[in-house]
Amino acid sequence: MKKVTIIGAGNVGATIAMKIFEKDLADIALIDVVEGLAEGKALDMKESAPIKGHNANIRGYTKDYSAAEGSDIVIITAGITRKPGMSRDDLLSKNMQIVEDVVKEVVKFASESILIMVSNPLDAMCHVAYEVSGFQRRRVIGMAGVLDSIRFCTFIAEELNISVENVQALVLGGHGDSMVPLPRYTTVCGMPIIQLINKDKIEKLIKRTREGGAEIVSLLKTGSAYYAPAAATVEMVEAILKDKKKILPCSVLLKGEYGIEDVFLGVPVKLGQKGAEDIIEIDLNKEEIEALHNSAEHVRRLVEKMKQLRTNRT
Ligand code: LAC
Repeated sequence: MKKVTIIGAGNVGATIAMKIFEKDLADIALIDVVEGLAEGKALDMKESAPIKGHNANIRGYTKDYSAAEGSDIVIITAGITRKPGMSRDDLLSKNMQIVEDVVKEVVKFASESILIMVSNPLDAMCHVAYEVSGFQRRRVIGMAGVLDSIRFCTFIAEELNISVENVQALVLGGHGDSMVPLPRYTTVCGMPIIQLINKDKIEKLIKRTREGGAEIVSLLKTGSAYYAPAAATVEMVEAILKDKKKILPCSVLLKGEYGIEDVFLGVPVKLGQKGAEDIIEIDLNKEEIEALHNSAEHVRRLVEKMKQLRTNRT
């Protein structure tokens, strides 16, 4: 059995654990800093197993990062979530510290694992994980593009009153206001949506996708989305564990691809057992490439801000 460790037993971490457990994808270690939280949730999930007969092992731990030992994948969801009125970037200084501490611990025990980052602001947290872990870039991958793309899919299917299964959407760029939904590469059963939905409507769907996270935050009031983020994360986990070679939009460190250097950004990536095995460079028009570069600049500014925060700390 493969092994996945999930750091953070909050709504996102626990929902990811449940989905992996129910699919029997891997044994699971769920770790949290809150005394008993991960143990309690993991035990509760384990006790659900007899109904459908899940055979994977699941166990929770409090601050015991040695439980990550031997993991194929470590998923980092630790950190604070936003409240209404906050942007993902408002979480930067707190989550940077949390992610630094957690990754430092995890890599001591799971030095061969693939890191999937979920904490926000997503692309900036990928930078932290990459620097702290010292892993090759193929082994640090951010979850955002799948989430943003499934949101776009959902809104398109609703607009056209068709099955979500017919829609394939592509959203690139950073996980934030500067994300880059690509209507030219978004299709319904192979037909470009630009032939099926008028321009104004598409713009509205794009706006809703960009603000998809905030829409949920404003409804929940006490935290952010977790069902769709968890589903998106598990899609990546499954592609890696089963060596599917599946192309999904993920945040990876670009080294010249799309003319962008040293920035984590959402682009189409081939996921397999080695992690981000390939970065696919698609043809973008002037407007699309400008939007992608603008998104990269946004992430770069956050990385600069983190450098300042570190300097101020010392
Ligand atoms: C969202 C948060 C989790 O997009 O980033 O819902």
